[in-house]
Amino acid sequence: ISLALQALIPAYLLGSIPFGLILTRLTGAGDLRAIGSGNIGATNVLRTGRKGVAAATLLLDLFKGAAAVWLVRAMLPGAEVMAAGGAVLGHCFPVWLRFRGGKGVATLMGVSLGLAWQIGLAYAVVWIGLLALLRISSVAGMAAAIAAPLAALAIGRPDYAAELGGLAALVLFLHRANIARLLAGTEPRVGGSRKKAE
Ligand code: G3P
Repeated sequence: ISLALQALIPAYLLGSIPFGLILTRLTGAGDLRAIGSGNIGATNVLRTGRKGVAAATLLLDLFKGAAAVWLVRAMLPGAEVMAAGGAVLGHCFPVWLRFRGGKGVATLMGVSLGLAWQIGLAYAVVWIGLLALLRISSVAGMAAAIAAPLAALAIGRPDYAAELGGLAALVLFLHRANIARLLAGTEPRVGGSRKKAE
């Protein structure tokens, strides 16, 4: 078994734990995939009205990404780039859900933080800033994903930037239904408002 797979497989398995789906079911709100956008992430958990469960989903989806990078870096120094990709792929394409997972925003924040705190910080600032400003989760998440490779370049890590650029492209692709709603002016805002996006 190659070094790359030794990093990729455990990271994928960690990333593939669908916390949103599990917590929503455990707290009696049913199958998240039948609610709102059908996505398994924290934004959609919020649509169940359970703020605490949404916050827990966000933190756990984030933490599993960071943990995958930290664990692999500790055991196989240099393989953390593999772990970052593995964790995000696990979240987005979990074998347990027939490869239909989430859109990667929280887990990408976690792996960004795991790779370098400065990248995680840039991600958080863009994400939280745009979310506060616009209250549209998809826009904030996509912009943060794009900020990650730029932050990696800024700190002189072109290797991280290449990987994060690829993962940002994946995040954008997974948001194609959101992008269509944004263009149509029907993307919902977070915070319970039924107002439509501009
Ligand atoms: O991370 C997913 C978020 O950006 C959008 O989620 O449920 O509005 O499609 P949702």
